[in-house]
Amino acid sequence: MKKLKVGVLGATGSVGQRFVQLLDGHPWFELGALFASERSAGKRYKDAAPWVLPSEMPEEAAEMVVKPMKAIGTSSTEEIAVMFSALPGDIASVVEKQGAQAGCAVSSNVVVHRMEEDVPLVIPEINTNHLALIAAQKLKRGWDGFIITNPNCSAIVMTLSLKPLMRFGMKSVHVSTMQAISGAGYVGLSSMAILDNVIPFIGKEEGKMESEPLKILGTLEGSEIKPAPFTICASCHRVPVMDGHTEAVWVDFEEDVSVEEVKKAFLDFKTDIKTPFSPEKPIIVREEEDRPQPRLDRDAGNGMSISVGRIRAGNVENEMKYIVQGHNTVRGASGASILNAEVLVERGYI
Ligand SMILES: NC(=O)c1ccc[n+]([C@@H]2O[C@H](COP(=O)([O-])OP(=O)(O)OC[C@H]3O[C@@H](n4cnc5c(N)ncnc54)[C@H](OP(=O)(O)O)[C@@H]3O)[C@@H](O)[C@H]2O)c1
Repeated sequence: MKKLKVGVLGATGSVGQRFVQLLDGHPWFELGALFASERSAGKRYKDAAPWVLPSEMPEEAAEMVVKPMKAIGTSSTEEIAVMFSALPGDIASVVEKQGAQAGCAVSSNVVVHRMEEDVPLVIPEINTNHLALIAAQKLKRGWDGFIITNPNCSAIVMTLSLKPLMRFGMKSVHVSTMQAISGAGYVGLSSMAILDNVIPFIGKEEGKMESEPLKILGTLEGSEIKPAPFTICASCHRVPVMDGHTEAVWVDFEEDVSVEEVKKAFLDFKTDIKTPFSPEKPIIVREEEDRPQPRLDRDAGNGMSISVGRIRAGNVENEMKYIVQGHNTVRGASGASILNAEVLVERGYI
């Protein structure tokens, strides 16, 4: 199969650099264009991107000249089939639409379009059927292309772990996150703010954690998503870990569920997605009493698997609690968008 040309919007940022790294050698996609702000446009990528590990910068990308956003839809970018987006929200709200108007499939990491009713918010192991919204979106907006999104980094990790538990009937979920520094972007937090510290506030994060999973786990009725019928209460915190979000989750079930039943539900969870970025085991159960840990478990399944552990009964009736961990810039961001784009190809949307 001839490789499809793809572009990265916000290629010089924390998530954008991860896109460039993960797309290197991809069997279906090849980098066709890298986009960033006017500050970077016109520079070679290796001079514009503050690469965290210089030895890992793909050679193909290093010499590419960064393009400004205004190049979208011009003859210099007409071959781009997929635009991956890692832009700040305000810029993305304009630029992603330009990409879709120009006929691209925009696979976005960004919050702005996630909760719009005609935009699929997808974790392929859970809700590829929501891709049916694409037809309604194209019709309504008159675009040749379209936008699909993946959830917030913490929401992806938790939602994947909730999916196998849906069969028991859930009343409510409480979650407390311990989120890595890379989630705050390349400029992010100053070292003086985060070293030897925990920051008990991440702007707008709790709202995303409380709403996005309900759309993903919701049911498609016609061209609408009916949200899943339980509540989520989140408390989000930044901790001095480079990569990998860890989350403590408490689930209140409709009825009594045992530790063994929860563990078996995680172990039995399978995926029918068979694309290059799809992990063989989306959920890995860690048996050791002190796992999962970001340093030990974030790279499981090339960063695309989540790990669960410490499954135990809570203090109130019908409550279970566990820890879940996942790589925030791979499973939680760039890898998630790439997996979504692979599924679009596999299902004939591109
Ligand atoms: N970090 C994560 O783990 C994570 C996870 C999920 C989702 N996200 C979302 O992904 C997006 C990117 O996050 P990030 O952490 O990678 O941010 P970041 O490191 O700050 O990178 C921002 C990117 O956007 C470009 N940009 C900034 N202002 C621009 C403008 N006015 N016009 C055009 N381009 C502009 C920057 O280009 P220059 O280098 O030229 O300034 C850079 O390439 C955000 O919406 C974030 O919420 C992040």
